[in-house]
Amino acid sequence: MSKENQKTIEVYEKKAHLYLSNSIEHDKLNPIKASQKRKNLENLIISNFSSLPEHAKVFEIGSGNGTNAKFIQSLGFDVTASDTANAFIKATQNQGLKTIKFNALKDSFPEKYFAIFCWRVFVHFTKDDALHIIQKVYDTLETNGIFIFNAINREIKDIDNEWVDFEGEYHMGAERYYDYFSKNDLDDIIRKTNFKIENFYKDGGDHNNKWLIYVLKK
Ligand SMILES: C[S@@+](CC[C@H](N)C(=O)[O-])C[C@H]1O[C@@H](n2cnc3c(N)ncnc32)[C@H](O)[C@@H]1O
Repeated sequence: MSKENQKTIEVYEKKAHLYLSNSIEHDKLNPIKASQKRKNLENLIISNFSSLPEHAKVFEIGSGNGTNAKFIQSLGFDVTASDTANAFIKATQNQGLKTIKFNALKDSFPEKYFAIFCWRVFVHFTKDDALHIIQKVYDTLETNGIFIFNAINREIKDIDNEWVDFEGEYHMGAERYYDYFSKNDLDDIIRKTNFKIENFYKDGGDHNNKWLIYVLKK
């Protein structure tokens, strides 16, 4: 794993409690936008998970506050949430979610899954981390299993990566590493694995192109 990701998870380990309270405040700033974002994501999950067997095993990497794992569970899937930071693990366990402490770049997946979901986590991965995790997810998925992840689109940035501590609602008192991916970067990385791109979307930001969203199929 990269030293960039290692340093970033150390920040989350110390500051996850701030992230949890600040992200709730963030959603209150523009509740209509927040609920639209939520609806879009839930629709994406519903449509792409519709081909999975009933009660299929699903794993989430970097669950944060657990909202997405909880939603996936509400659809009847057998979900395992995970994160590296103890405060996040507690937050998901408190919602009744099966949760493990799991560093996606270091630890082995405990079982095989029909789907793996990884939302807003590639932001903290270098390009080498991204190849490593995509290959590792491929190896642990069942045949026809799917991998859903998103990354921030390099097109909307004028840099490849940065260390940031956002002001305002995402302030954490320490910088985290952010990497930005072009569609070409990700397509090239995916081509090095045996995954097929099942679906691809752009969403978010002022021009609906902030996030590159991939649904890969084994
Ligand atoms: C921006 S937060 C997103 C949280 C959640 N997925 C969401 O969308 O609200 C990034 C998350 O990635 C997790 N993360 C970063 N590097 C990780 C790694 N190597 N293994 C597992 N989780 C990681 C962090 O602990 C944090 O929960």
